[in-house]
Formats: sequence, C-alpha cells, structure tokens
Amino acid sequence: MTTHQHRATARNIYPLFTVLAAFVLAGLSGPVMAGGHTAAPKAKEPIILDPEARSGITGTVLVSGANRGIGLRLARNYAERGWTVIATARKPGKADELNELAKANPKVSVERMDLLDHASIDALAAKYRDVPIDVLLNNAAMLGDPAGQDIGTYDYELLERVLAVNTIGTMKMAEAFLDNVAASEQKKLVAVTSQQASIGSLRDPLIPFYKMSKTALNMGMKSISRRLKRKKVTVVLISPGAVDTDMMNSALDYAGVKGGFLITPEQSAEAVINIIDQYTLDMTAAFMSHRGEEIPW
Ligand SMILES: NC(=O)c1ccc[n+]([C@@H]2O[C@H](COP(=O)([O-])OP(=O)(O)OC[C@H]3O[C@@H](n4cnc5c(N)ncnc54)[C@H](OP(=O)(O)O)[C@@H]3O)[C@@H](O)[C@H]2O)c1
Repeated sequence: MTTHQHRATARNIYPLFTVLAAFVLAGLSGPVMAGGHTAAPKAKEPIILDPEARSGITGTVLVSGANRGIGLRLARNYAERGWTVIATARKPGKADELNELAKANPKVSVERMDLLDHASIDALAAKYRDVPIDVLLNNAAMLGDPAGQDIGTYDYELLERVLAVNTIGTMKMAEAFLDNVAASEQKKLVAVTSQQASIGSLRDPLIPFYKMSKTALNMGMKSISRRLKRKKVTVVLISPGAVDTDMMNSALDYAGVKGGFLITPEQSAEAVINIIDQYTLDMTAAFMSHRGEEIPW
C-alpha cells in the first residue's frame, strides 16, 4: 500500500472511529449524580393504544400477501373504509377472493409480487413510481414446515427460504417503496411481525427459523427507523395476535395444540388497522400487540 492509499484509508475510517468512540464514551459515562452514583434511566411510559377505536382516516395502502389469511381481511377492511388498496399476491390469477373484491371495488387493484423474486418487487415499485403510499403494509410471510425446524433434523434450505421471505424480502420491500411512503401524507412503513419474535417472552422451543426471521425483521426495522425518522416516516411493528389462518393452524397441528383461543382474521385485521391509525412518529418502531400494548423485545 502506498502512503497515499494509507492516508485515504485512514481518512475513510476516521469518522467511524470518532462515532464509535462517542458511543463508547456515552455508554461509559451515563448520567452521573453528585456522589458518583449513576442515575437510573427514567422509566418510559408504557404505550397503550385502543384496538377498537376506528378513525375516519383514508389514504392509499399496499398490502402484501393479500390473497388469503390476515392479508385478505386487511385488504377487505381497508377497502370498506374507503381506502385505495394495492393488494399483492404471488399468483394473482389464482387469488379468487381478492379478485372478487377488486371486481366489486374500483379502488382495489391486484398486483403480482413474490418476496423471493426481487425483480418482481422492483417491477411493482417502477409501476407505482410517483404514487404516494400512506401505509406500506408488509404482511406476507411464511412459517415453513415446523418439522424441518427441529434440532437434529434442521432443513437448512428451509432456513434460508424463511429468512429470504420474511426478513430479506420485507427489507427489500421497505427499500423499494420508501420514496412512495415518504411522499405520502401518513408516511407509515408497517411490518407485521409476531409475538414469536420476542426474546423476552420466549416460552417454547418450536419453529425457531420463523422466530429468528421475525426477530431479525424487528431489528432491521428498528434500525432503519432511526434514519427514517428524519424523513418523518413512522416504522410500525405490529403483531396481529394468534389468528385462525393456515399459518397458525400448521404450527398448532405440529405442536398438538387445539386452537380454541384463536381470533378470526377479520378481528385481527380490524385491530391491526386501528392500531396503525393511532401509531405516531414519536412511537416509531415500538413493538405493539394487536391488543395495543407493547411487547418486550
Ligand atoms: N396467523 C397468526 O396467528 C399470526 C401470528 C403472528 C404473526 N402472523 C403474521 O401475520 C402475517 C399474515 O399471516 P397469516 O396467518 O395470514 O399467514 P397465511 O395465511 O399463511 O398467509 C400468508 C400470506 O403470505 C404470502 N406469502 C408467502 N410467501 C410469500 C412470498 N414468497 N412472497 C409473497 N407473498 C408470500 C402467502 O401467499 P401464497 O398464498 O401465495 O402462499 C399468503 O398470502 C404474517 O406476517 C405472519 O407472520 C400471523
């Protein structure tokens, strides 16, 4: 390496060191009180939202994975509220219920999008370039066969697929549609996450790949929320509850649990939308349940 290259490298990494040093010092020093004791950080007020409070807000929403499950009900509920709905499906030709909704409602359009196919995400973003999207509702996800997620019989291809869909695909959606969200009035980037992502409330050893994918998604979204706050974009993290869908039933079947406690996809969609409506920029990236309470990380 020449002296010139050394200097150039040093110049590039110097700001990084400065930032790291500032973080380390901030962490070491903390708030110090007289007598040398460190003040306990001020406890934050818990955030509580009303899952039943419907607002009259309307706008444009993009719902991914809208052909079945919670996504279909989210699209239907938004359409009933008078929103313009861009509803995506991997196979629009087979999305019968969604196509019926679009037929009956001119403000609903059905589009192809597969989270494993980034070209399909770019194509959709190009088609809607310059269209403000108030709520980018990243709902689509996969569970993966729970049997392939048991230690001793890990299916590593499945692990890659679950991460590619739930984490990477969702981060790609956020990136591809960021300008649409930033150009809108409400500016909300939503990730439908899961209570299963919570390390602090982990109870069972099942479906680790799915849990990992949603925990990673939470961290990804929380990280970008720091940058997006400057653009006044609110990152919304919401768990939709334990809902009677194909995904939940496949997990319960494997665990040998009966689902008498499940809520319907309609109930979940109603609560999720009401919470998104009430979620403000100062709460950005708070991890909320469908009941309107914060979930531990
Ligand atoms: N159900 C629950 O109790 C529960 C609990 C916590 C969190 N969640 C979360 O809630 C959301 C909806 O779940 P759900 O229960 O409604 O699941 P679901 O019934 O299994 O529906 C999943 C949706 O995601 C789509 N999808 C799957 N892989 C995709 C891909 N590669 N690209 C694009 N779309 C894809 C599916 O499309 P196809 O029809 O083409 O497969 C389907 O539309 C998910 O984010 C899930 O993790 C659900």
